[in-house]
Amino acid sequence: MNHQVTGHVKGLKPSQIKTLERAFRRRVGPDEVVSGELATFLCDISRDIGRQVGVLINRRGSIEHVMVGDATRLMLPDVGRLRGAPGRFRGLRLVHTHLRDEPLSRDDLTDLTLLRLDLVCAITIDGGGRPKHVFIGHLLPDNPAGKLWEELPAAPAHAVGIDFRRLMAGIEAEFSRSAPRAVSTESARDRALLVHVATSGIDHAESEARIAELRELCRTAGVMALDVVTQRRPTLDPKYVVGRGKLEQVLLRAMQLGAETVIFDQDLSPGQARAISDFTELAIIDRTMLILAIFARHAKSAGGKLQVELAQLKYTLPRLVEKNTMMSRLAGGIGGRGPGETKLELSRRRARERIQLLEKKLASVDATRRLRRQRRGNREVPVVSIVGYTNAGKSTLLNALTGSDAVAEDKLFATLDPVSRRLRFPEEREVVLTDTVGFIRDLPPDLVTAFRATLEELSDADLLIHVIDGSDDSYESHIGAVDGVLSDLDLADKPRLLALNKIDRLTGNDAERRATSLSAVPVSALDRKSLRPLCAAIEQALWKEGRLTA
Ligand code: GTP
Repeated sequence: MNHQVTGHVKGLKPSQIKTLERAFRRRVGPDEVVSGELATFLCDISRDIGRQVGVLINRRGSIEHVMVGDATRLMLPDVGRLRGAPGRFRGLRLVHTHLRDEPLSRDDLTDLTLLRLDLVCAITIDGGGRPKHVFIGHLLPDNPAGKLWEELPAAPAHAVGIDFRRLMAGIEAEFSRSAPRAVSTESARDRALLVHVATSGIDHAESEARIAELRELCRTAGVMALDVVTQRRPTLDPKYVVGRGKLEQVLLRAMQLGAETVIFDQDLSPGQARAISDFTELAIIDRTMLILAIFARHAKSAGGKLQVELAQLKYTLPRLVEKNTMMSRLAGGIGGRGPGETKLELSRRRARERIQLLEKKLASVDATRRLRRQRRGNREVPVVSIVGYTNAGKSTLLNALTGSDAVAEDKLFATLDPVSRRLRFPEEREVVLTDTVGFIRDLPPDLVTAFRATLEELSDADLLIHVIDGSDDSYESHIGAVDGVLSDLDLADKPRLLALNKIDRLTGNDAERRATSLSAVPVSALDRKSLRPLCAAIEQALWKEGRLTA
């Protein structure tokens, strides 16, 4: 262990530093917050040098750090990244002096929370340089009042009747009782606090929809969303997205809930990601990274995997330039495997080389795909592509129509790779049906490029079936999002059929009403019989309206 005194040591005499170093030799009994002897020692030296003096004591009663501050505050050393179970305490308590008879400061309580200290204790000094009062604060588990910490009543220094071991055992028991279920099975990485900022153009309903979507994305990524912090402000804070004071609150809340990751609904610029990461040891993730993490989990084919890795590297490379330590957190976050924390230059070069290699490999995968499409084209079999918002039921519909079993999961983006199947109609007619990646509002531009190959298939389609999850309250905005992506891809004029899916979940005449107002065919992909009208509509669109000949 490094027994060096840290902090504001400039201007101290060597003899004073020597005295301070002697603190490392002291020990505190297992039941004491601080021994009377240590308290006297700290007050003595503190008065002598006119600065705050503090120590960090571990659970065994040994002193791990000795710090010197100025007259009003103390800077704590980097005590390392907190690992292990959520709700876990750092196993270090801060005991320090206050030159005046003042209670715990805002800084004391912020350190308590952000560093998850066992407790923080301030000893004030009387006129004779002896300990006067003791102020103690400790963390509180999640509670209805939203209180983060508890301050115990001030006690005369000579009569602190607190049994440290009992107090900690009680606090830890309360924390484990109040922590959300699954603490034991979910790793801390998979527990996140979500942050949404509603800027002036975003109304309440849109905020709700965005939050619901972010929650869905988390579920699909296997992340447990513990809570959502929302802030209304006219524009995003250029540096911290939410503003500094709010960011502090967000981080405190994350600590209280035992989250190790904060996920921003807004995409962060490399500068914002760095500024926020500078504040905290929690992993900072944005929406694009979350989507990329999901893509990474679900990509199945060689082409899909290459595209995801390429998109991840391209997204992280500019951030690598900014700050390497942050990168290791960002890229090492959910699902990602980022370059290491050190050797930034090497990581950047390797990343660039890897990008080149991936692009080359992808080009050859694209060529194979094109060939396959060409063969299909030569046979003059019409191509019908299924599009739709993520989780609308595209894969299920494809399976139901063709009797195949492409992946269908109740998670967003289960499908990443184009899947093609044949569908036979009477009179020896057949079509090729292709499934596509699920669309999503504001599909990050990097991802649109990355998934070009999947979406490229759409320009070859003779007909698009736009599948809508009719049971989702946001179905209208989902339709808008899909239409938006299609026009971005210059596909707005493609012949299109709307299929209102999941009508089995609708009651009364909701299905009929919604389908009529959208001119959509109502279906339930889980019930093959319900698909007949859709098949008839496909036939009608392809052959009877004279686009193609049988
Ligand atoms: P992405 O891959 O995310 O784009 O999803 P997708 O649109 O391909 O959706 P998928 O077919 O994976 O279906 C999503 C979930 O909805 C699955 O749990 C399906 O079982 C369910 N689902 C699909 N169609 C229906 C339906 O008609 N009724 C009901 N109740 N559930 C359905």
